[in-house]
Amino acid sequence: MTGVQQFVDNNLERFISELTELLKIPSISTLPENTGDIVKCADFVVERLREAGLNNITVYPTKRHPVVYAEWLELKDAPTVLIYGHYDVQPVDPVELWSTPPFEPVIKDGKIYARGATDDKGQMYMHIKSVETLLKTTGTLPVNVKFLIEGEEEIGSPNLEEFLTQKKEMLKADAVLVSDTALFETGLPTITYGLRGLAYMQVDVEGPNRDLHSGTYGGAVPNPINLLAEMIAKLHDENGKVTIPGFYDDVVQLTQAERDNFKKLNFNLDRYKESIGINDIYGEAGYTTIERAGARPTLDCNGIWGGFAGSGAKTVIPSKAGAKISMRLVPNQDHKKIAELFTKYIYEIAPPALKVTVQDLHGGPAAMVPIDNPVIKAASNAMSKAFGKDTVYTREGGSIPIIASFQRILEAPAVLMGLGLNTENLHSPNEHFDLGNFRLGILCSAYFLQEFGKK
Ligand code: BES
Ligand code: MN
Ligand code: MN
Repeated sequence: MTGVQQFVDNNLERFISELTELLKIPSISTLPENTGDIVKCADFVVERLREAGLNNITVYPTKRHPVVYAEWLELKDAPTVLIYGHYDVQPVDPVELWSTPPFEPVIKDGKIYARGATDDKGQMYMHIKSVETLLKTTGTLPVNVKFLIEGEEEIGSPNLEEFLTQKKEMLKADAVLVSDTALFETGLPTITYGLRGLAYMQVDVEGPNRDLHSGTYGGAVPNPINLLAEMIAKLHDENGKVTIPGFYDDVVQLTQAERDNFKKLNFNLDRYKESIGINDIYGEAGYTTIERAGARPTLDCNGIWGGFAGSGAKTVIPSKAGAKISMRLVPNQDHKKIAELFTKYIYEIAPPALKVTVQDLHGGPAAMVPIDNPVIKAASNAMSKAFGKDTVYTREGGSIPIIASFQRILEAPAVLMGLGLNTENLHSPNEHFDLGNFRLGILCSAYFLQEFGKK
């Protein structure tokens, strides 16, 4: 057993109780009423970084939520790793579907339940504990380390790119280490080498100037819900392809090597269907589930409203209806261009009888990391050492918009070393994080810093 492993095992209970305290802070970034909790959470992270032995710990205010920075730069001629994570979390509704309150963490069957457990507080905290472990067991670190922990990831990191640009010198690094993705399956060490981008839109439609009696007017006036539904239906064809002209123009196609690699992952379709309670899968013709969810661009309605949705029946033609529609993008698709193509097409197919408005709510680019990069090799070795198994490579459907900016602005490759599981209910009620993976993640992080230091 290594000294690192010994220290982690001897201190795991304390690490978990610190994580429990972190998870009690309702740092929901999108809700104005939680701004105080965001500040409290940033301060909590500062204290833990201090205890771990980091230096120059600073809270940088932004236009919205603060960024926490810390560093340990004692080595000459050693590479520097920038560790990125986020301390903000998603809202908790529908809160009535939680078995226990979202900000009162409980441990059950080796998993800790709370909002932010897997996304991303639990995963971010692994790195603080790995640095503490290395410093306390060896008195030094194998590489220089910087921490950048933000509070706006869940709202699309609106101020972080400007921060990267302004603090480019301070943040300079040879690699960026991120744990905010998932293992392909339990027990399988996984490096994610691709993330999708995002364009998030809102469509509002308006018909008559007020709600109308559906008997008096029904059939003679434009019904905003009927027509909005028709417009949404037109966004896909019978093969599950998105019909927006130009949507696929810039898409980087999957390579045969990637498709072969995905096949080797032995994706279990029955388990997948069972885990989310669906009778059958659905998607773009000609692609497998892994490809559809990780490497192909898609369009989904996230929410739709209008008219009467209470219990019972009310006979009414609504005045207004609307929908939130997101598109997940792949490398080389420009989210601003896609938002424009979407807007143009919606206006094109909008029935003249309706007033239609389209808003571009937010977006971000996809990211790809070349897997032949030595930093990926170091990460893969580290994960294999912790798990005792060969590391696999996959692409994920989720988005972390700032990853592309790290690569562009800091010119540093990103290592996506996620220890979550897609079944851990991120963004959903009863979010949790497997504490066995929390422990392994601390080891993966420490071993990665050691591997990267060998160069
Ligand atoms: N950690 C997730 C991204 C993620 C989820 C990566 C699952 C891989 C697998 C991140 O916190 C997130 O939720 N991102 C948002 C981005 C958005 C708010 C701009 C997403 O993907 O919806
Ligand atoms: Mn996250
Ligand atoms: Mn998230």
